[in-house]
Amino acid sequence: MVIRLERIEKKLDHMMKQCGDIVPWYSPDGIYRECREDFWVSGFWPGMLWIMYDLTGKESYRKKAWDWDVRIGSLFLKQSNLHHDVGFQFLTTAVLKYKITGDQDAYRMGLRAADFLAGRFNPAGRFIRAWNQEKTGWAIIDTMMNVSLLFWAADETGDPRFAHIATAHAETVLKHFMRGDGSVHHIVTFDPKTGEMTGALKGQGYAEMSSWSRGQAWAIYGMANVYRYTGDKRFLDAAKRAAQYFWMNLGEKKIPSWDFRAPGQEKERWDSSAGAIAASGMLVIAEQDELEGLLYQKCAETLIDSLTEYCTELEKTDYQGILLHGTGNKPAEEQVDVALIYGDFFYLEALAKLEGWKRRVF
Ligand code: GLY
Repeated sequence: MVIRLERIEKKLDHMMKQCGDIVPWYSPDGIYRECREDFWVSGFWPGMLWIMYDLTGKESYRKKAWDWDVRIGSLFLKQSNLHHDVGFQFLTTAVLKYKITGDQDAYRMGLRAADFLAGRFNPAGRFIRAWNQEKTGWAIIDTMMNVSLLFWAADETGDPRFAHIATAHAETVLKHFMRGDGSVHHIVTFDPKTGEMTGALKGQGYAEMSSWSRGQAWAIYGMANVYRYTGDKRFLDAAKRAAQYFWMNLGEKKIPSWDFRAPGQEKERWDSSAGAIAASGMLVIAEQDELEGLLYQKCAETLIDSLTEYCTELEKTDYQGILLHGTGNKPAEEQVDVALIYGDFFYLEALAKLEGWKRRVF
């Protein structure tokens, strides 16, 4: 393993001892704060442990990761706020566990989550409903990552209904989320009865027509995945448009601002997690695009090198948090300039891919 992965291993070994059984979320000061098990980030820590187990074969990672799919999956039987993000939560736990170990209980848990996600599809608007409560007609760009759970279920069961739903949702995103210049909306609302689009909302971005960089990164990675699963060029073109827009809006240091269209000082705040997600997504484009793949590979490598230079302190092995300078929710002034567990996950995932790791999580 290269030096970066070796140092990450040391950090994770420390974190395994220090964090105990919490669900790590963000770290402003070298200590991870926890969140609820039903929150969208709960699969990333075990997902990192599974990746490290796959890379190193070290038993301590497997042991620590093993129960997480059952822990999160038990929420299906309780009062909880599980929603479209079961993709993030179960692709990184049950499905990855099954891919690595062949465990049949994990396989069933993965399918259970896919059924739940498919059940959120609105046929009138051809979108997967994002959140709960009164947000019946809301769809968000992040779901582009969650649809991989449906493509996995379609492949495993031979039942194309899962893939039909995933593809229909992605087509709706092409039509209603993606703008001509490759930028995207975070939230699009629909009338849940007629399926008609009713508007767009700023969500975690600066404004309705601005460009939240993590949403941009979800679009790159998600569209590239949909192309990988369907072979439909429209999705590869969309992934490339989103990636080109992302690249053109990076500053000199090649670390994304939290929103590419935030004004002046506001723009100064970075979101390193968007850089890591975009890099990992560009590596999917690189694998899939015979003509221009090398270009996207180089961009991904540059992004990861910049993140390593400006956003990590890998030698501080007892500091919990790999990727510093992430921004969780700037409009709410929450988790600003911190390490984020999903930034850590996607940085590790991209590094592993760059080192030749072939298994895919999404
Ligand atoms: N999926 C929520 C976020 O990216 O913050």
